[in-house]
Amino acid sequence: MLKVIRYSSLALLLFVAGLWGWAWTSRAPGESVGEAFAQRLAGVFGAQMPVPGAGGSPGGMQLPPGVTLGGPFSLVNQDGAAVTERDFAGRWMLVYFGFTYCPDVCPTELGTIAAALDAMGAAGEEVVPVLVSVDPQRDTPAQLKDYVSRFHPRMQGLTGTAEQVADAARRYRVYFARAQRPEHTDYTMDHSSFIYLVGPDGRVRTMFRPDTSPEALAAAVTGQLRSGSRGSS
Ligand code: NI
Repeated sequence: MLKVIRYSSLALLLFVAGLWGWAWTSRAPGESVGEAFAQRLAGVFGAQMPVPGAGGSPGGMQLPPGVTLGGPFSLVNQDGAAVTERDFAGRWMLVYFGFTYCPDVCPTELGTIAAALDAMGAAGEEVVPVLVSVDPQRDTPAQLKDYVSRFHPRMQGLTGTAEQVADAARRYRVYFARAQRPEHTDYTMDHSSFIYLVGPDGRVRTMFRPDTSPEALAAAVTGQLRSGSRGSS
């Protein structure tokens, strides 16, 4: 028994050390290794953490105390217009970071957002669905416009320069990196996969793990909208 504990703590130590090393080598310029470590950790657990129940916890994941995500950004929308967080002020948003060439995860999560908003009925119209591209090199405004319209008529597709996208991702602690798979000629993007509910003040209220069901997402967002409007009145 003691041996098992010893081995599992060794495995945990190696895992943490490995993740720290990865954060160290792959962090963005100007990003602290601690910040990078938190992002990699979120990326790893976001992808691998088992989802409790049928569709994850109904309220989403609470942010740790003292952690604020979201805030200012400067990007370009699917019509080629420059947009900032001020263009969405006073609105709720469901934000997802992904890319249009993603073969499976992004379409699934964007489909979940669209289905949840439809399931919310009139309340769903208070929420703006947003895809922020982590692949601005290929995701031009025109490419995004075509892509987001396939999921939801009101979905916004945001892109920008590599710096603008990296800055927005940093504020949401989104991990992303270009990756080359040997079996593919074109590159792909590795990225963490959370759905962020952003309040009218531009700050993330709660976040949802991958594979949250549309029903659970709709219920949680409806609850947040209700408590959010009570709190601000
Ligand atoms: Ni993806």
